[in-house]
Amino acid sequence: MATKTLDNKDDSTKGTGTSSTSKQTTSVDNATVDKNEMNSSPLHKFFVSALKDIYYAENAIIEALEKMQEAATTEELKEAFEDHQLQTKKHVSRLEKVFKLINETPEKKECKAIKGIIEEGEEIIKSTEEGSMTRDAALIIAAQKVEHYEIATYGGLAQLAITMGHDKAADLLEKTLQEEEDTDYDLTEIAETYINFDAEQED
Ligand SMILES: [Fe+2]
Ligand SMILES: [Fe+2]
Repeated sequence: MATKTLDNKDDSTKGTGTSSTSKQTTSVDNATVDKNEMNSSPLHKFFVSALKDIYYAENAIIEALEKMQEAATTEELKEAFEDHQLQTKKHVSRLEKVFKLINETPEKKECKAIKGIIEEGEEIIKSTEEGSMTRDAALIIAAQKVEHYEIATYGGLAQLAITMGHDKAADLLEKTLQEEEDTDYDLTEIAETYINFDAEQED
């Protein structure tokens, strides 16, 4: 009885109260349906799975860069690895924001590709002489393999995010993509300035 009176009051005050309420309900229903459809679509599932993959990779790279930094011969390369380690920590928190933006929880999914690339880097440390320029020349290539894996991943995921209408997520992924490209470029610069030439003189 009380509810009915309240409803009637509401209707009389707003005039279009009833129709506005029913419109609101319909739009909420549609949003719920859209979200459910989006979250269960094969592309959304793939997108989330690929994010978990790169989330694992970025965390693994933080550890790998620590070892590479210790193993590097020149101060210049040590510094470059240190800088990139700090940047990689930013990439991890950016990914956490991307998960949040699409209503998913950040989780790591083992990435076999990055494990393999990191293992190659460890092999290089074992097979090159400590304090040699050859080690640095080889470590730069190992690091660039990591960058290229990241560039391929972020490039593809940013495009998918745009297609799926996740504009904010796409911006964050593109920001990281740009940083990976810059790092790749910087590593080439370091190699070409003197490390490769000095390595070539070693016997
Ligand atoms: Fe990264
Ligand atoms: Fe990177």
